[in-house]
Amino acid sequence: MTDDERIVSPEPEDQNEDSIEKSLRPQTLAQYIGQAPIKHELSVYIQAAKQREESLDHVLLYGPPGLGKTTLAMVIANEMGVQIRTTSGPAIEKPGDLVALLNELQPGDILFIDEIHRLPKIVEEMLYSAMEDFFIDIVVGQGPTAHPVHFPLPPFTLIGATTRAGLLSSPLRDRFGIVEHMAYYETADLQEIVTRSADIFNTTIATEGAHEVALRSRGTPRIANRLLKRIRDFAEVSPDHSTIDLAIVDHALKLLRVDSAGLDSTDIKLLETMIDYYNGGPVGLNTLAANVGEETETVAAMYEPYLLQRGYLKRTARGRVVTAAGYAHLGRELPPTANS
Ligand SMILES: Nc1ncnc2c1ncn2[C@@H]1O[C@H](COP(=O)(O)OP(=O)(O)O)[C@@H](O)[C@H]1O
Ligand SMILES: [Mg+2]
Repeated sequence: MTDDERIVSPEPEDQNEDSIEKSLRPQTLAQYIGQAPIKHELSVYIQAAKQREESLDHVLLYGPPGLGKTTLAMVIANEMGVQIRTTSGPAIEKPGDLVALLNELQPGDILFIDEIHRLPKIVEEMLYSAMEDFFIDIVVGQGPTAHPVHFPLPPFTLIGATTRAGLLSSPLRDRFGIVEHMAYYETADLQEIVTRSADIFNTTIATEGAHEVALRSRGTPRIANRLLKRIRDFAEVSPDHSTIDLAIVDHALKLLRVDSAGLDSTDIKLLETMIDYYNGGPVGLNTLAANVGEETETVAAMYEPYLLQRGYLKRTARGRVVTAAGYAHLGRELPPTANS
């Protein structure tokens, strides 16, 4: 199964899901659920910037996919009462592309660069003076007619988002005054998100149903909303269920093969392979990936982080090891010699 069809993938599925997400996006900090420390900090900075009639300091948002980075950037723009232009690291191929983007900004506007760790080096270097002193110097023309041009810029706010903060160069990272790490969501917050989304979908979901979806969403709003959308289909075709209750959630997620902790069949296969063939580990990531028929990179990016976060897997110097919690989740006996 490719990641595209994986129901618990934290990445957006397709264009259609993109447009559904837009309809579910909170508009204000008050509507933005969870992430309380980040919201609190941002509300202070936003209020202060508005009082001083200045642009907001540059903001870097980092954390796993699907946690609400893009959403938060839009919310910030809305709260500041400014326009936001959205682009992504790989889309800005050359300096001219950046100049064109910056050129359209009004004072105080926001430029949102998603996947900012993927900016070409030459563009990144131009950003330094743009962020720090609001100008860029570029060379216009070629050969003998080439000459430097100094472009003053309006004060603006750069919001960068990345899933890989470690890949950001320190000169770039140092130019962000506000750096926020997005954490996986608490179950209670996900439950609130699911309930709110059900409301927007014009369906009702029972408290226990929403709680169950929250438990199985891997701490990720995007996954919670996707599961809800699929469960709603099951509810709509069953004649006796107008409300999405726990039974429907259970039934749908069983068919979708999402287990009680949000693991799918590949997650389980990973853990079982380690237990059955490697006595729980340690086993190297390459070997593991080969055993379940996935690319090493895919296992590292899509499967391992949640298993680690959940505490079912741990990293050791000699490889990955299934923990006691991992054994317990699969209902397997911890062997006396197991390496956890
Ligand atoms: N704090 C939140 N409250 C409510 N819904 C959220 C929240 N964060 C994310 N979402 C939902 O999850 C979806 C994915 O969020 P998104 O901002 O696209 O994530 P990211 O950019 O981090 O990958 C959004 O469309 C929104 O519906
Ligand atoms: Mg995003």
